[in-house]
Amino acid sequence: MTSYTLLPHDLNPQALPKHVAVIMDGNGRWANQRGLPRIAGHRQGAKVLKSLLRCCKDWGIGALTAYAFSTENWRRPTSEVDFLMLLFEKMLRQELKEMHKEGVRIRFIGDLSGLSSSLQKEIARAMHETAGNTAVDFNIAVNYGSRNEIVHACQQVARKVEKGEIVSADVSEALISEHLYTAGCDPDLLIRTSGEQRLSNFLLWQLAYTEMYFTNAFWPDFDSGEFHRALQTFQARDRRFGNAADTVAVTEKVAIKQAALTA
Ligand code: FPP
Repeated sequence: MTSYTLLPHDLNPQALPKHVAVIMDGNGRWANQRGLPRIAGHRQGAKVLKSLLRCCKDWGIGALTAYAFSTENWRRPTSEVDFLMLLFEKMLRQELKEMHKEGVRIRFIGDLSGLSSSLQKEIARAMHETAGNTAVDFNIAVNYGSRNEIVHACQQVARKVEKGEIVSADVSEALISEHLYTAGCDPDLLIRTSGEQRLSNFLLWQLAYTEMYFTNAFWPDFDSGEFHRALQTFQARDRRFGNAADTVAVTEKVAIKQAALTA
């Protein structure tokens, strides 16, 4: 996280997503196209993720959640899985100090008990050291599966009912949300790269009202220009949350258009 970037003039700083989630897809194809091993795509992908975090911080987007490894990704060749695990560990070792200095709060979400003890140790250290930071939340989903997360949340809630701490009538959407790894902070914008248009068991509950943006770009090519385009698309949409077109959305759109004209 070294160079600083300014928010592009045509984006309205008041209407940015507060929380962006990314499904980083296409690393393998990016590498294939260049005659490189798949791991070269993941390595480049990690650099791109770092730059995106930089953009989020500089442009005033408070949270970034990245899908780095799903519960299904264990089915990949062992050499690729091992490489990814080492990459997560290496990134934590190399980048922790700087991210901490930049005010990044790091959180890993997923079933962390399935990871190696050395990776678990690095994760615990990073989460502990950065817990008090407030500039930007950086959530990394590793060994993550959304259905599994929902089951886990329901089990925790059921335990509270069993213990008599709450009754079944207390179980609400808000209560389930609080027991998810993301604890009530739902993304406003989901980006998936590489032309695929599915959720792949990522944040199924949290994405209920999220705007989706799909691009053909492979993840290692997803630079600040691509992110800019995703945000332009986001700002051009009416977010109604089930309501009819309301005046807030319309007013926001007019403000965005005015900002674009005067830029
Ligand atoms: C999907 O592309 C990508 C992954 C399963 C790995 C994502 C991980 C990174 C970008 C590294 C992130 C690094 C840190 C440090 C958090 P794919 O391999 O499925 O690509 P393909 O569909 O083209 O084969």
